[in-house]
Amino acid sequence: MMNIAKPNNSFNTTLPDLIEYPTSGILSKVLFKDNNSQYSLFCLAAGTEIDEHTSTRNAVITVVEGTGNLNLEGKDIALTPGVFVFMSANAPHALQAKENLAFVLTLSEHLPKKKISQQTIDIVKSTAPVIKQHGQKITTRMYEIMFNTHPEVKAQFDMSAQTNGTQPAKLATAVYSYATHIDDLEALKAMVDKIAHRHVATHVLPEQYPIVGECLLQAIQDVLGDAASEEVMKAWTQAYQALADIFINREQQIYQTEKAS
Ligand code: HEM
Repeated sequence: MMNIAKPNNSFNTTLPDLIEYPTSGILSKVLFKDNNSQYSLFCLAAGTEIDEHTSTRNAVITVVEGTGNLNLEGKDIALTPGVFVFMSANAPHALQAKENLAFVLTLSEHLPKKKISQQTIDIVKSTAPVIKQHGQKITTRMYEIMFNTHPEVKAQFDMSAQTNGTQPAKLATAVYSYATHIDDLEALKAMVDKIAHRHVATHVLPEQYPIVGECLLQAIQDVLGDAASEEVMKAWTQAYQALADIFINREQQIYQTEKAS
């Protein structure tokens, strides 16, 4: 892959001049990339197929030349010059080039990247000692709430690890590590990776994160009582959302790699 332009500089080009077909497969050139979006020119040799996959970002295909077929969420769309297709994040799609096919693929974040505020960081860090002290109590309470309100998730868990306390202990360690390293996420990479692999092995899905979030926040409130001020709860709500996004993205990558192999 090569980069054609630098971010923050306006530029223009003539797409047909950039088109180059490989003898087989795909040749792609990144036209432009920044933190939120990436514009690439894809040149597919006739006959190339891309198996069904998903993207964590919104994607737009704008066909420049050639013909092909896009299967988007089970529906076939003929690709011919001028066709514009918007694919929302996580929509399964597969593609096939009938002739040499060139299109611009635009990827964009479907959610604004939320930066955790310094105030949230400070508040969350200040709660680390109480989280450490009451961690196991909080996570035991969180599983109690979750299994009561969402019994369907029980099937994903090894219930003996609940009874003997090992799973609540692991979660407590993870929450405490996050509280202490919320401003140094690099330090959490190995931990996130290990947990994300376990989540994929137990089929955890993005839509389950709000459930855990709600139960965890309720548990923090139950255990900390008056110490769980409105300010503290607001900060933890924001912090949990940011952590959930990190897991969801990492797990999406693992699910995709597993699918491709
Ligand atoms: C930010 C939120 C979350 C954190 C910090 C977290 C943390 C953890 C940790 C530390 C483990 C243990 C990993 C290991 O054994 O090495 C784990 C496992 C697991 N988590 Fe999560 N988790 C989160 C969200 C979720 C969600 C949304 C679900 C969905 C229901 C979930 C379901 C599971 C399951 C099923 C396991 C395996 C448990 C077992 O083996 O019995 N987690 N998680």
